Amino acid sequence: MSFPAFLEQSCARVNGALEAVLPTGEILPVVLHQAMRYAVFNGGKRIRPTLVYATGAALGESGPVLDTPACAVELIHAYSLVHDDLPAMDNDDLRRGKPTCHRAFDEATAILTGDALQTLAFQILANQEQVDAPRALRMVAELARASGSRGMAGGQAIDLAAVGHELDLAELENMHIHKTGALIRACVRLGALCIPEVTEDTLGQLDHYAKCIGLAFQIQDDVLDVTADTETLGKPQGSDARQDKPTYPDLLGLDGARELARELVDDALTRLTDFDAQADPLRALARYIVERGH
Ligand code: IPE
Ligand code: IPE
Ligand code: MG
Ligand code: MG
Ligand code: MG
Repeated sequence: MSFPAFLEQSCARVNGALEAVLPTGEILPVVLHQAMRYAVFNGGKRIRPTLVYATGAALGESGPVLDTPACAVELIHAYSLVHDDLPAMDNDDLRRGKPTCHRAFDEATAILTGDALQTLAFQILANQEQVDAPRALRMVAELARASGSRGMAGGQAIDLAAVGHELDLAELENMHIHKTGALIRACVRLGALCIPEVTEDTLGQLDHYAKCIGLAFQIQDDVLDVTADTETLGKPQGSDARQDKPTYPDLLGLDGARELARELVDDALTRLTDFDAQADPLRALARYIVERGH
């Protein structure tokens, strides 16, 4: 299967699974449920669920067992974006070309939407029936760690504290590893944990791959903030600069940032040399991350 077909299939799969776990917009409290659905069904690329499916495929698993972790990582991602866009954070009016959640609804609803999406992620992981309880518990713990103060939320705190300050390369890397990298790593780890016989050695190799692509992903996000137009980006171009956020293009220039992202992808690919053709979606995903235009 070609990578575009794999991506499309992963999107369709996770969309169906998300449809099933999100309460309909008629269930009370209706506004909250409508806002949750608005935040989730809003044209996301579904890279993180695709990473769960691609990791499963690399290890010979493509069954429905992957759907719950795929949903869980996307719910955390959607929540993180709703809060990221809030006036107290990045104060963005557009997300994926549409009004941000707090613009389409209101600020209080957006805060609660994030809260509810986050807790739903853990609820579905805890309730899954396709994996045994010890592995389900480990998935909950891994996702919690990746989302919390030592992961994504911590990275967001570093990001906010850095506004108006100059960061050196190590500090910038630390911020990105937390705010974006941690969740990307969790996608791979949760996907791998769906396979009962996965070894710590294999987890380690996949983890190194994920660390590299996680950082490359945020570097490309910074690059696109400078280069892509508002229409392709779905939000105003150059918003990082306007908010005085330190970025990779600031420190390395655009070419330097692109080069670093490519080096990271090469590094990621060398971690997969022990894997056979079943890992091709993981390989293609690494390349897609630096080649994507939005
Ligand atoms: C954007 O993530 C925010 C970051 C964490 C860099 P994506 O580019 O994956 O966002 P969507 O879900 O496809 O819109
Ligand atoms: C978002 O990073 C990271 C998280 C939501 C964890 P950005 O603030 O750079 O993402 P965009 O550019 O708004 O999508
Ligand atoms: Mg932000
Ligand atoms: Mg933002
Ligand atoms: Mg950005």
